[in-house]
Amino acid sequence: MENKLKSLFHSVFGTSANDIYFAPGRINLIGEHTDYNGGSVFPAAITIGTYGVAKKREDQLIRLYSENFSDLGIIEFSLADLTYRKEDDWTNYPKGMLHYLIEDGYSIDQGMDILFYGNIPNGAGLSSSASIELLTGVILQDLFDLNIQMLDLVLLGKRVENQFIGVNSGIMDQFAIGMGKKDHAILLDTNTLKYELVPAVFGEHVIAIMNTNKRRELADSKYNERRAECEQALKDLQTVLPINSLGELTEEQFEQHKQVISDDTLIKRAKHAVTENQRTIKAKKALVENDLQTFGQLLNASHASLKEDYEVTGVELDTLVSAAQVQPGVLGARMTGAGFGGCGIALVKETNLDEFIEQVGQTYQEEIGYSADFYIANIDDGARKLYNEE
Ligand code: GLA
Repeated sequence: MENKLKSLFHSVFGTSANDIYFAPGRINLIGEHTDYNGGSVFPAAITIGTYGVAKKREDQLIRLYSENFSDLGIIEFSLADLTYRKEDDWTNYPKGMLHYLIEDGYSIDQGMDILFYGNIPNGAGLSSSASIELLTGVILQDLFDLNIQMLDLVLLGKRVENQFIGVNSGIMDQFAIGMGKKDHAILLDTNTLKYELVPAVFGEHVIAIMNTNKRRELADSKYNERRAECEQALKDLQTVLPINSLGELTEEQFEQHKQVISDDTLIKRAKHAVTENQRTIKAKKALVENDLQTFGQLLNASHASLKEDYEVTGVELDTLVSAAQVQPGVLGARMTGAGFGGCGIALVKETNLDEFIEQVGQTYQEEIGYSADFYIANIDDGARKLYNEE
């Protein structure tokens, strides 16, 4: 892979580079749509992700090329003009990182050429955009010897997403991709940013990723809508409770006070945020205690809540997940990520895996009319430099 990428760099930019970097994608085991509600999430970085080959230039030009968008060719801009431009397409993610690093006073005074190649399936909801952000972060940190912590790159990636791109996402994706650890999941309290690395040990079981192959249309606008709904529900609750986020509530407190929320839909949205947070904490406990039955049941309950109360699943994810839940050897299944298409995950006994893929794949094909894809989630370290020949 490394040599292929280096020779691709040479043929695209006409010069050679030795520095290769990698940023993973992520799955979220449980804790969905809780990260902007002050709750807990339980994600993990995975071995599929984005590779980068980079080299400084003597001038002020930034030239970026992605093998995944080869039809767009090299997209270039100057260090002196790092404004968002729609026509700059995917390069707005690296551009945003450059923009905020420089704004924060980090010295980046030369241009660069960067080649990107990702093996995260496009639009699969496995965080290809956060992967590009953190990849850019570690490249810039290394090329310019920036004295910056990974956590700051994580926060910067979120800022790019929120302010530069305009998606009101939480901290989960960038955190998992920056701070990931091989064979561990991260229990992150998004209120305090305190986290715990938990061994992701599933015994005879594996985590299968199931890709709906549905394009995540309208995902960003629906995402921002859910976030606004939760903010409104919180405001209503704050008229009777001294809280700063929905994540602070127990299920009992919520049940006791939910009637102050002005609208039934908003009650459902807030109910998901509160119950999902509690499920996440219970799931972490179950995993630590090696109680995979309970862990699996919590995955199922999470999906039901995302379907009924949060309404972010859709027919494709529901078909995949409900087909998965009834297969032999499956302890639980749910959507992962923002929803509205993208991927689900299932905890499957390894000896049942082939049959699982065949059966779930067949049901999906029959009901949806096109095929699903399946991968095994191997849990990896966070964004890093891979290789340097010099
Ligand atoms: C997207 C966002 C995350 C998180 C999830 C839902 O992946 O980027 O911040 O909100 O959706 O859990």
